[in-house]
Amino acid sequence: METVVSGIRPTGNLHLGNYFGALKNFIKMQNEYNCYFFIADYHSLTTHPHPDDLHGNVKSILVDYLAAGLDPEKCTLYVQSDVPEVIELYLFLNMNAYIGELERCATFKEKVRQNPQNVNAGLLTYPTLMAADILLHKATKVPVGKDQAPHLEMTRTFGNRFNNIYGVDYFKEPQAFNYGGELVKVPGLNGSGKMGKSEGEGNAIYLNDTPEDIRKKVMKAKTDGGPTEPNQEKPEAIKNLFQLMSIVSTPDTVAFFDEQYNKCAIRYGDMKKQLAEDMIKFVAPFSEKIKAISADDAYISKVTKMGAEKARESARKTIQEVREIIGFKPF
Ligand code: ADP
Ligand code: TRP
Repeated sequence: METVVSGIRPTGNLHLGNYFGALKNFIKMQNEYNCYFFIADYHSLTTHPHPDDLHGNVKSILVDYLAAGLDPEKCTLYVQSDVPEVIELYLFLNMNAYIGELERCATFKEKVRQNPQNVNAGLLTYPTLMAADILLHKATKVPVGKDQAPHLEMTRTFGNRFNNIYGVDYFKEPQAFNYGGELVKVPGLNGSGKMGKSEGEGNAIYLNDTPEDIRKKVMKAKTDGGPTEPNQEKPEAIKNLFQLMSIVSTPDTVAFFDEQYNKCAIRYGDMKKQLAEDMIKFVAPFSEKIKAISADDAYISKVTKMGAEKARESARKTIQEVREIIGFKPF
């Protein structure tokens, strides 16, 4: 059976971008593949080196994962730092990762632009740690959103380079995976092309947002003066609204507003009201479950212990083999 690995950094609650870009696939994949899903808490230190509440952040992502339908009996659900074997693989991969290629990585350049005062070595080697996460379990499928494509390309490079340098056929090439075919990119609400935690105020809708939060954010979403000619092409902000609607509303609703747009009769206020109500309906079952699971610390402790054990079993095996391949041997 093919192996799947994916992780999410604990730097905020899960939003609709995370859900449609990644989590939705996790939930389906756990029934069909050997899945490892983890919370990338080491990775979160690359951008948040002094987190106020690392433990609390890990807990809230874990709770979101469970509430969204990940089943710890069906998949291996773990916290990255509970499986320190990954650091050893990260070290080995770093020995054959070149500064130039790391500096050229699009996601690195973007982080440097966003946060020029914190360009640390961990940030530069973020792709090697991510490659270690994936190669540690010898995964071939990685359910992630479009923004992660450069990291997967680097993972393949590092895996192939390891095979070439040590003359083995050990690591397989992992591919990004989405059931729908194309990788998904969910837009934000404030004109940002991507819904994300670090894309500014009001950009993301979180699974645990209250109806009031959602109404406020959606009503503030960027629009324009409206179309002036029939069947006019939609500008970026309007396309984003329609795209968001297409993920939470019925096809009939989308078709209705599309027609209104094409007839130059659209009222963005009405469209946003409808979008907000459909988003509220979508997140309601999640918020309920989030509350219940959050209060059950014994369950959370049991889940993480079980996950760590299962993940370490697979990790130890890989590390032992990798050590032998490189030439580390006991005397
Ligand atoms: P953020 O961008 O909010 O910091 P992460 O980088 O932690 O989110 O993303 C976690 C997962 O969710 C990744 O697999 C990523 O590809 C996916 N993801 C995040 N935002 C989006 C989005 N707007 N559209 C599609 N997938 C997304
Ligand atoms: N880089 C991913 C993100 O920001 C998180 C991540 C870390 C990950 N390690 C991974 C995703 C391994 C998939 C596989 O979303």
